[in-house]
Amino acid sequence: MSNYHIKHLEEYFQVYRKSVRNPENFWEEIAEEHFLWRKKWDTVLSWDFKKPEVKWFEGAKLNITENCLDRHLATRGDKTAILFEPNDPKEDTQHITYTQLYQRVNKFANVLKSQGVEKGDRVCIYLPMIPELAVSLLACARIGAIHSVVFAGFSANALATRINDSDCKVVITSDGSYRGAKTIDLKKIVDDALEDCPGVKTVLVAKRIQSEINMKDGRDQWLQPLLDEASEEGTATVMDAEDPLFILYTSGSTGTPKGMVHTIAGYMIYTAYTFKNVFQYRENDVYWCTADIGWITGHSYIVYGPLANGATTVMFEGVPSYPDYGRFWDIVEKHKVTQFYTAPTAIRALAKEGVEHVEQHDLSSLKVLGTVGEPINEEAWHWYDDNIGKKNAPIVDTWWQTETGGIMITPIPYATPTKPTYATLPFIGIQPALMDENAQEIKGNQADGRLCIKFPWPGMARTIWGNHQRYKDTYFSAYENMYFSGDGALRDEVGYYRITGRVDDVIIVSGHNLGTAPIEDAVNEHPAVAESAIVGFPHDVKGNALYGYVILKETGESRKHDNLRKEINQIITEQIGPIAKLDKIQFTNGLPKTRSGKIMRRILRKIAGKDTSNLGDTSTLLNPECVQDIIDNAL
Ligand code: WT7
Repeated sequence: MSNYHIKHLEEYFQVYRKSVRNPENFWEEIAEEHFLWRKKWDTVLSWDFKKPEVKWFEGAKLNITENCLDRHLATRGDKTAILFEPNDPKEDTQHITYTQLYQRVNKFANVLKSQGVEKGDRVCIYLPMIPELAVSLLACARIGAIHSVVFAGFSANALATRINDSDCKVVITSDGSYRGAKTIDLKKIVDDALEDCPGVKTVLVAKRIQSEINMKDGRDQWLQPLLDEASEEGTATVMDAEDPLFILYTSGSTGTPKGMVHTIAGYMIYTAYTFKNVFQYRENDVYWCTADIGWITGHSYIVYGPLANGATTVMFEGVPSYPDYGRFWDIVEKHKVTQFYTAPTAIRALAKEGVEHVEQHDLSSLKVLGTVGEPINEEAWHWYDDNIGKKNAPIVDTWWQTETGGIMITPIPYATPTKPTYATLPFIGIQPALMDENAQEIKGNQADGRLCIKFPWPGMARTIWGNHQRYKDTYFSAYENMYFSGDGALRDEVGYYRITGRVDDVIIVSGHNLGTAPIEDAVNEHPAVAESAIVGFPHDVKGNALYGYVILKETGESRKHDNLRKEINQIITEQIGPIAKLDKIQFTNGLPKTRSGKIMRRILRKIAGKDTSNLGDTSTLLNPECVQDIIDNAL
């Protein structure tokens, strides 16, 4: 028990040292003391970053839902597990107790079974933030099916790509969703996607917005009547520690999205242990993470981490601006939220609306504030600290990734002194390294390099679905025997880390990870477009926004540029989703290229960011003359 809750900085250093001196012993102790196993492991860890292959707790048998549900029934049966706050504040909050959640998960699991879903099958979940979303993840896990959640803001095309990549045979969706004052016809998007997904035999539809939808005979079924018929009893399927728990797609700098595969035991231990320590969760706390379960943050820190700890986790369906910009603070006050975890982009958007919305609410319940998803700028950090935490609730700036499964670099609240814009120190068991251009590790403090991890941790993704080679190439090939994160970081004089941002062609827009290649592919589909290059540029709310440089085909026809811009963004919305729309589109006659034909994005990034004072050496370009022309016409 002693090392589950870190209380002061000295204790952090002690536990940290222990965890890296003998990681196997350290994680074994955590696994022994805090989880329910059907059978214990034969080996704690075996690993080889060259292959790469990582296995934790091999030989162990368990079901993650017994850890998230069954074992709490005796002591926390009537405690609220999920506190559902609907989009419309006039609609009632739902308090789903551990007993009720257990029953709902069993019912749902029995429905999946009756639809022929078996252990190892992939189930695609495309749902808004309603209780069925959390229940469906757990129902899959209960019977050993692998869930693949697709964020319900993705387009039909993006959904189809993900369904096909992992051969999902069932899709769980809803008639529609609420988003502030709007409704979205999700089922229609699924129908469009499934035109290209011959492998999907069953679609289960939850009712949320009561809209008229099309139900395809023999394929689509309403969920509720099936649930009504199903038994609320059910035994969990016994799983191996290294069986896949889920697939979650993340953008790569090139190519199709990568289906990151997380396995059961290691992911469970890591999300539970990080949750407890990073948020200093206590028994009667009310914890709220504002992310969508469609992203890893929601998987790890709305569903699995909190429930493994028997916590009360808030699930919010709506948006921060509806019915007004005080909604977040209204919810904090209403439910006396103790831990609040959000993204810098949300903080910046709310800060812009002024403190009046904050001041009307009593936020004195808050003990810990968290941020995740992108670097937090100094101004936003202070706004959060001053106005939300009133300098009384430490901010945990948590760095991690879809690939890492859980939080990797973070302060421990009330133990690690915070520093604005710094994620501070590695979490227990995490061994970061900074690498220089010559692939050498930079030792000592006051260093700046590429952020890698030297040793496996239980929560790391094990492979990319259907493409282990790509997993190796992307994460384990840049530096020998290291996991490469794709981020740059600096280490200050006391060893605190500050994440400086992506060093590859991934751009983080409003906390969403976007690859440039798929957006360029979408832009290039426009019949008038010959070539394009997408870069990020600083944006005061989104962190980064997208800037597209577009070369048009010479058709002799002169089209209105504004119309073209709209059409291009329309294609992007269809191919990927509205989050990938371009803020600025500059039409140009040339793009700066190296002699080997590679677009010099570094130059384009600087121009988009209005930083043309030092463009570096352009003389080696194939076509240096285009640079001045691009600068002269920049938006
Ligand atoms: C990328 C991973 C992990 C949950 C949400 C995003 C950036 C994440 C921070 C932070 C600076 C951060 C990194 C990372 N990022 N957290 N606290 N400070 N940057 O997951 O979609 O897999 O994106 O988000 O660039 O590589 P993701």
